[in-house]
Amino acid sequence: MLIRSNWGDEMQVYLDNAATSQKKPEAVFLAMENFFKQINCNPGRAGYELSLTAGRKVMETRERLARFFNMKEPNEVVFTQNITVALNIALKGLLRQGDHVLITGLEHNAVVRPLKALEKDRNISYSIMPTDPQGQVDPVEAAKLIQPDTRMIVATHASNVMGTLVPIEELGQLAAEYGLDFVVDTAQTAGCYPVDYKRLGATVVAFTGHKHLLGPMGIGGFCVSREAAKRMKPLYEGGTGSISDREVQPDFLPDQFESGTLNTLGIVGLGAAVDYLEQAGLEEIRAKEEKLTGKLLAGLQELPGVIIYGPQDATRQTGTVAINIQDVDNAELSFVLDKKFGIMTRPGLHCAPIAHRTMGTFPEGVLRISIGHFTTEEEVDYLLSSLQKVVDAI
Ligand SMILES: Cc1ncc(COP(=O)(O)O)c(C=O)c1O
Repeated sequence: MLIRSNWGDEMQVYLDNAATSQKKPEAVFLAMENFFKQINCNPGRAGYELSLTAGRKVMETRERLARFFNMKEPNEVVFTQNITVALNIALKGLLRQGDHVLITGLEHNAVVRPLKALEKDRNISYSIMPTDPQGQVDPVEAAKLIQPDTRMIVATHASNVMGTLVPIEELGQLAAEYGLDFVVDTAQTAGCYPVDYKRLGATVVAFTGHKHLLGPMGIGGFCVSREAAKRMKPLYEGGTGSISDREVQPDFLPDQFESGTLNTLGIVGLGAAVDYLEQAGLEEIRAKEEKLTGKLLAGLQELPGVIIYGPQDATRQTGTVAINIQDVDNAELSFVLDKKFGIMTRPGLHCAPIAHRTMGTFPEGVLRISIGHFTTEEEVDYLLSSLQKVVDAI
């Protein structure tokens, strides 16, 4: 049992940014408070001034995101509750009876579970592209898995378990070469790594607002070109505020996929967050994260008994690092870090059993430490000294 009573530091350190970014820029709070108190009308549902103002706020965020992901026009950005819904729309909207799909060995259940459902409902099948235990995906070997009925490649941009960056542009080229749809899950990279829809040659780039994009929970979406959207069926139908005289779903973007009242408050918060990111500069954000990740990795390598998973190279991964300590249960370790040191991490399987099978850590899992935009050097030092105390106590 690791818990000792004399470890009682008073720090509170949040290192679960891969789950959500707990801290947000002040501008996000201000924008949301202002909208909630002063506006809070349904956008696109009426002609009075406050409803029009709400509509303009939604459009501002669409414009910012279109710029951020390099879309041709703002209406090519569609809002959903989160990336899970966005990926469901993309997969269920594009895949047809009997299609074959390639995925990485790092995918989250947000991809795998919809595919499993489609396996049953539409007889689709999928193959896992060769991915080594550090999470390196091999696009050359992946090409050998393409069959006549292969229709799509789905790839996370980075592992949510060990941070490994996927060769996403090469996978985009592979998809283009074989005329396949390319769906990219940017949950772990949008906001801390550049994502360019055109450069990737993507069909759909899905995003979630509450992680590195620094917005609130409950808002996400996807980018899709007008041309690709024509081939994509909506998952939900309903009121959009547009062409209300017709009983059928609009067939134009973004209304085609945006049925029901939008999370306007979340959209406003996300808009302020993207504005903050644009001003801070993605290169600077990434450079700081890379430096802290390097420091964390170097410190972990010094600790006896600590097993580190993934590339162990800050230039080839995000700020997410997976570890285990020999002979220590990772759930107990996470519990001790929280209760005795005030450090928040996530143990277990991280909704990504496929990734853990790739890493060889299924079903035990790992302890995930994930750095975010507001993590400081002092916090990394504190984590390392706390882990040293744990190691010394074993
Ligand atoms: C790679 C990846 N995809 C999808 C998701 C699902 O994100 P959300 O819960 O915001 O839909 C996550 C978050 O845990 C993730 O890390």
